[in-house]
Amino acid sequence: MTQPITHALALDRNRDARARERFVSGLRGFVLNDLAATMRKDFESGVSASLETPGNKPPNGEDVHRAMRGREIFKAYSSARCTAQQMVWDVVMDSMEQQRGQLNDKGRSLSEKAKAGGTLELDPNLEIPRYVDAVDVHLMPGCYHKEYGGQDLAAGAIYDQGLNVFAFGAMGRELNDIGWSMANFYKARFNNPKPARILDAGCTIGHNTLPWRQVFPQAEVHGIDVAAPCLRYAHARAEAMGIEAHFHQQSAESIRFPDNSMDVVFSSMFLHELPNKAIRNYLAEAHRVLRPGGVLLNMELPPNDRMAAYDQFYLDWDSYYNNEPFYKDFRDQDPKELTVTAGFPAEGYFEGVMPRYTYTEEEEFIAAARTDPEFGEDTGRLSDVIFWYGFGSVKQG
Ligand SMILES: C[S@@+](CC[C@H](N)C(=O)[O-])C[C@H]1O[C@@H](n2cnc3c(N)ncnc32)[C@H](O)[C@@H]1O
Repeated sequence: MTQPITHALALDRNRDARARERFVSGLRGFVLNDLAATMRKDFESGVSASLETPGNKPPNGEDVHRAMRGREIFKAYSSARCTAQQMVWDVVMDSMEQQRGQLNDKGRSLSEKAKAGGTLELDPNLEIPRYVDAVDVHLMPGCYHKEYGGQDLAAGAIYDQGLNVFAFGAMGRELNDIGWSMANFYKARFNNPKPARILDAGCTIGHNTLPWRQVFPQAEVHGIDVAAPCLRYAHARAEAMGIEAHFHQQSAESIRFPDNSMDVVFSSMFLHELPNKAIRNYLAEAHRVLRPGGVLLNMELPPNDRMAAYDQFYLDWDSYYNNEPFYKDFRDQDPKELTVTAGFPAEGYFEGVMPRYTYTEEEEFIAAARTDPEFGEDTGRLSDVIFWYGFGSVKQG
């Protein structure tokens, strides 16, 4: 069930807007839980046994895609999902357009007071990478960086409220379950460490950045992103929530922090939106800014080769139908190779699959975090029972 966003920067939505949001969230929940289950059954009962593959090789996601794309259920699923995705943004844009002035005033006031002690550092000369500028990723109008004028926070509000509708209650209160899960995964896996400095790359509105500060209150927590409106929103949102964090407009391909300065470099849902070269640049930069013994941790979609052919196909849907041009390319990579090429030792590599921290008993979560990962149909698949996937490495000490 979708939970309302409660921080002071949340858009006010009138009764009609709330009703439309509930409808779209419900539609998404229906498509991603119920229609998805029907489509899987159709594959298992009507397609799987007769699946043809080039050269009779074991099937992969592309073979399943070829076999499924003419099926009625696939067309129904895809059409409903595309429509629901557009509706997510439509309902939110209406509320944002009515309140843009108010939102910007509120944001400016929260940022200026900075009661929680956080900071915001923008760089008007930063060039927005073409892979952000040239495409409305997952159909979000204006992508992350579009400015509607002045000290603008609109893209941040669209993302926050849009993600809340999109997630149909599956990503935690204030949409922060990934942050809580990954910070607690790190804590469980690395024996209750006390990191002094943490960096979140591609932090957007900081919703998964802040839990790091909540789990490690002694840590200095930084988020970087290229999109100024999202960062303005992130800073004001953090101040509204009373959580200290520092936001910087920087590219993860060229991080402006000194060598060996971070204990943790974290990212969430970031790499699959980057072309391969940018992923490699980011990982090399993460390696540079981590101190020896520091930990790289990326929450991501699971790699294709860990998944059954049907799940490869299911997760790669976004690459074909949801304006996610780099999604499949990323999932076809070997994450271990990516880290090793970036300079991390092969023996430092780790992966984890875990239940959602804020939906799970602590002991159950810790046990999963300390166990070798088990990949299944719920790994990385947004539904009411999603399991998060993360990979990373430890810099040579
Ligand atoms: C899918 S969002 C990440 C979401 C967020 N981390 C979360 O936990 O949900 C991708 C973000 O990466 C940012 N981004 C894209 N390229 C970047 C780069 N080279 N450096 C820093 N941020 C970048 C985008 O502006 C966007 O905010």
